[in-house]
Amino acid sequence: MRIAMIGTGYVGLVSGACFADFGFDVICVDIDAGKIARLVDGDIPIFEPGLDHVVEAGRRAERLAFTTDLEGAVSSADAVFLAVGTPTDPATGRADLRYVEAAARSIGKALTGYTVIVDKSTVPVGTAKRVEGWIREANPTATFDVVSNPEFLREGAAVQDFQNPDRVVIGLESDRARDVMSAIYQPLANRDIPILFTGRETAEVIKYAGNAFLALKIGFINEVADLCEAVGADVLEVADGIGLDSRIGPKFLRPGPGYGGSCFPKDTLALVRTGEDAGAPQSIVDSVIRSNAARKRGMGDKIASALGGTLAGRTVGLLGLTFKANTDDMRESPAVDIVSRLLELGAVVRAYDPQGMEEAAHLLDSVEYCRDSYDAADGADVVAIVTEWSEFAALDLERLRDCMRSPHMVDLRNLIDPARARAAGLNYMGIGRVI
Ligand code: UGA
Repeated sequence: MRIAMIGTGYVGLVSGACFADFGFDVICVDIDAGKIARLVDGDIPIFEPGLDHVVEAGRRAERLAFTTDLEGAVSSADAVFLAVGTPTDPATGRADLRYVEAAARSIGKALTGYTVIVDKSTVPVGTAKRVEGWIREANPTATFDVVSNPEFLREGAAVQDFQNPDRVVIGLESDRARDVMSAIYQPLANRDIPILFTGRETAEVIKYAGNAFLALKIGFINEVADLCEAVGADVLEVADGIGLDSRIGPKFLRPGPGYGGSCFPKDTLALVRTGEDAGAPQSIVDSVIRSNAARKRGMGDKIASALGGTLAGRTVGLLGLTFKANTDDMRESPAVDIVSRLLELGAVVRAYDPQGMEEAAHLLDSVEYCRDSYDAADGADVVAIVTEWSEFAALDLERLRDCMRSPHMVDLRNLIDPARARAAGLNYMGIGRVI
């Protein structure tokens, strides 16, 4: 089995490396020659725990290669995975399919012999059919099938998620394609991981509906956290109390500063637009989007409330900038909204993130970037934890307090034990907890 992976972003690089780990010959293709040159040199362009080991093992076994030559890679492949970006079109909120279309047309021209083209990018419903049309236009005599195989991996846990998924979803319409896809996922089927075969539109909806439902859980618990603060309840106990109901489940009920990242914001918006286009309004998801946007904006004011609402001339130490821990990704990070609100309120912002500062510097130029957490707390009137990096949970709180001008801590991830913070002399405020 020879696999070509088109696109070496999170999904493409992780999937390609993991397929090589399954034992297949994989060639990863990207139009970005600089990125391919780095990968050829063994340099991983993203921070993703464990990915370097899988890539290195694949390269050493000579099962994983990188190239800019799409034609060469596609012509010798049995399956070609499309893992190119589908960013939001800012004018419409819809997923922009220009990279998918360009890749599909190039694949079409390069096809030789029966090939399965697999959509792994997150794409609107109906895209598999459109990809088929673009390939057919580029190469009217080619023999191929287009399959939808959405990916459910999380940044920061991508390798682990790819190798141990809850399920694999494969949308297709031909037995021939089913044989190829079954062979590709046999290593997971052997471990009793459910492989769900559906129609292509169904697979496409599963991806959007899955992400939207997870975003909804987060939006829901965040609003419940506000209620808990208002009535003197504890949201962590509420999350336990409802999560133990097996119909609800305990996961994705951690309150925080609002969801960010490259997926939930983009996919919830795309689902709403798809619903509008199809005459099936997705009003629940629409309200999750609005609730999350308001939450991200409101977090700056929450930090200000620790100082009585006034930030003019005050210094805020921000711990964490990325949209979640174990990634260097700043896309749609709540930190961006928080920083802009803090600056609007007149604060000086000192920030530290273990991996995200290089990315953050492109987006946030009025921030003082610091060496470590203690440096960020130096002279601060309030320290706010924005991202749940484990090193923040292990901070020496006395030392942190001694760096500060006044001892206020706002913990937007409920990462610190309030009793420990209080014992260290910090005025502590978490999310959804009255303490
Ligand atoms: C998400 C999905 O979890 C993956 O299954 C999916 O494959 C991926 O999108 C995608 O479509 O490619 P990801 O965006 O990497 O993965 O990150 P998550 O771990 O889902 O977190 C998303 C956001 O929700 C983060 O800002 C995180 O801090 C927040 N979150 C998550 C909470 O605020 N509370 C929670 O309980 C969980």
